[in-house]
Amino acid sequence: MGSYQKFYDQSITQPDAFWASQAARIDWVKPFRKVCDFSKPPFARWFVGGETNICYNAIDRHLATRADQNALVWISSEVEQTKKYTYRDLFDEVNRFAAVLKTLGVGKGDRVLIYMPMIPEAVFAMLATVRIGAIHSVVFGGFAAASLAARIDDAQPKVMITADAGSRMGKIIPLKPLTDESIKLSRSPPKYVVIVNRGLDKGMSTIPGRDMDYSVLRNKHLDDVVPCEWVESSHPSYILYTSGTTGKPKGVQRDTGGYAVALAASMPNIFATQPGQVYFCTSDIGWVVGHSYIIYAPLINGSTTIMYDGLPIRPDAGVWWNIVEQYKVSVMFSSPTAIRVLKKHDPAYLKKYDVSSLRYLFLAGEPLDQPTSDWIEKGLGVKVIDNYWQTETGWPILSAEPGIEETPRKLGSPSFASYGYKLKLKHEETGRQVGPNEKGVLCIVPPLPPGCMSTIWGDDARFVKTYFTTFKDEQVYTTFDWATCDADGYYFIMGRTDDVINVAGHRLGTREIEEAVQMHSNIAEVAVIGVADQLKGQVPVAFAVVKDTSKIGTPALAAAHEKEVMAMVDKELGAIGRPSHVYFVTLLPKTRSGKLLRRAIQALCEGRDTGDLTTMEDPAALEQLKAAIAK
Ligand code: PRX
Repeated sequence: MGSYQKFYDQSITQPDAFWASQAARIDWVKPFRKVCDFSKPPFARWFVGGETNICYNAIDRHLATRADQNALVWISSEVEQTKKYTYRDLFDEVNRFAAVLKTLGVGKGDRVLIYMPMIPEAVFAMLATVRIGAIHSVVFGGFAAASLAARIDDAQPKVMITADAGSRMGKIIPLKPLTDESIKLSRSPPKYVVIVNRGLDKGMSTIPGRDMDYSVLRNKHLDDVVPCEWVESSHPSYILYTSGTTGKPKGVQRDTGGYAVALAASMPNIFATQPGQVYFCTSDIGWVVGHSYIIYAPLINGSTTIMYDGLPIRPDAGVWWNIVEQYKVSVMFSSPTAIRVLKKHDPAYLKKYDVSSLRYLFLAGEPLDQPTSDWIEKGLGVKVIDNYWQTETGWPILSAEPGIEETPRKLGSPSFASYGYKLKLKHEETGRQVGPNEKGVLCIVPPLPPGCMSTIWGDDARFVKTYFTTFKDEQVYTTFDWATCDADGYYFIMGRTDDVINVAGHRLGTREIEEAVQMHSNIAEVAVIGVADQLKGQVPVAFAVVKDTSKIGTPALAAAHEKEVMAMVDKELGAIGRPSHVYFVTLLPKTRSGKLLRRAIQALCEGRDTGDLTTMEDPAALEQLKAAIAK
């Protein structure tokens, strides 16, 4: 482990020199005067005094050398279309969008909320926002109006950008009605709504004065060039909401300089990708993986990025490998769930296309099980690299780093700490550092490296309290993940310490789902837990106490009631939070102090031992649950 270890050690023992050299990977209009200011822990400011712009680094600086290279290739199996944009085309489109935002009064520090399907205009909108020093908040297109309204209220955007509709499995999914409803629910509605009308939803209605058709606006600015707004390194580039223990999502705030450097460094070092190569990340722009590895990292690196709109199995389970062959994809990034979906289909699809250009398949977002990893690695003949990180960090915390050194991989392990991350596994109660193979809470010793969140949007106190107060003995960042580390330094992630669940690689708070279920007028109390699922990793399951039991008096009534509750979650949170089952009970298992025994319920659902139940108030509650599941 020669060069990996040397590289890592340098990042920890000489962080200033290390990061100063990585910072040379991006262009600065004004050099920074200090690498890291950690004078107000746990807040860290990276590359203090330096001025730059992410959009400049992602587009403008490449024009001299790669203007005619494809920057973005958009492939939609939903609407059967492909669009290619060279770096010059991307420059033109982003400038048009930036000009539009400026005429709508958006300036430095203003927020722009982007609620869009996977279309190129979403990328233009994001890059245009950071170009003018504004801050984007992209909300995943699968979230419902109430979730959207909460994010509007928190970020208070001046402008919202949406589309008439997206498409899933060939079915039109209108977005504009949800946008309208969210604005009605919101306390601080945006002044303007810009709509990319794809002509998918013929019945779309608009509100004169507020709603603007993007194509009309774009046509007025076809030749505009909008200068980049140079911002200080700590200037926020975006907010991305993520789930935690409470019902209120946290706005993860990212800076400019630290993020750009972290991403620029990760492409050659971790993802072993050189400028000019083709990079294909299958995530969605609404999630952190999409922000970092569909858009910013590949573009900052001068790669060609592939943006895919659709399912991995439509028109058939060979669609991604066809793309790899056609565009000579060099590195891919996907999720274990996606591979498990493919695994249900004919393995012959893995051999149907020439995937010899593909060197690595990175997988992240949830635990990678050995059968899935083996299946895809053998099937494609490509190295699989499990990497572990969070919305909060923006780039891998744990990963092999083939760009530095090809280290042996161990199945089930995302390998080692990435450079810059000083990790500690702490005992849950005492805080002492655990030994090899002993389970502990995975923590990062601050300062968090460049690219990680700067704070929670508008709530510094919550940032400190949420992430840095778990342990009394020292102020460390908690990932809320259990992990072990073996004698060779390989980490293994063992699941969350909090009530966050992971459904098909999507992070959800059980609290958020519980709040959505409780919006149903006949629900008195509910417990939502994540239960192991073969395909999705975990699925939410709800146990609900009803007020009026006559409404669930017969199996048919109960089934109808279950559907109603599910529909309520769809409406309040979005279908991604919909419980796979809603069981009706009259009592929930709790401790005598009133705490829900979540782990016991989960164990029961997964057919495991429920553990110590001496603190349980009423054992009948667990018996009821057992009976409900058995039915
Ligand atoms: O529990 C860990 C799990 O996903 C959480 C972070 O989810 P999110 O904020 O959506 O960011 C995903 C970025 C890839 C983590 O706290 N997780 C992520 N990657 C892995 C993982 N669990 C096990 N193995 C992984 N490789």
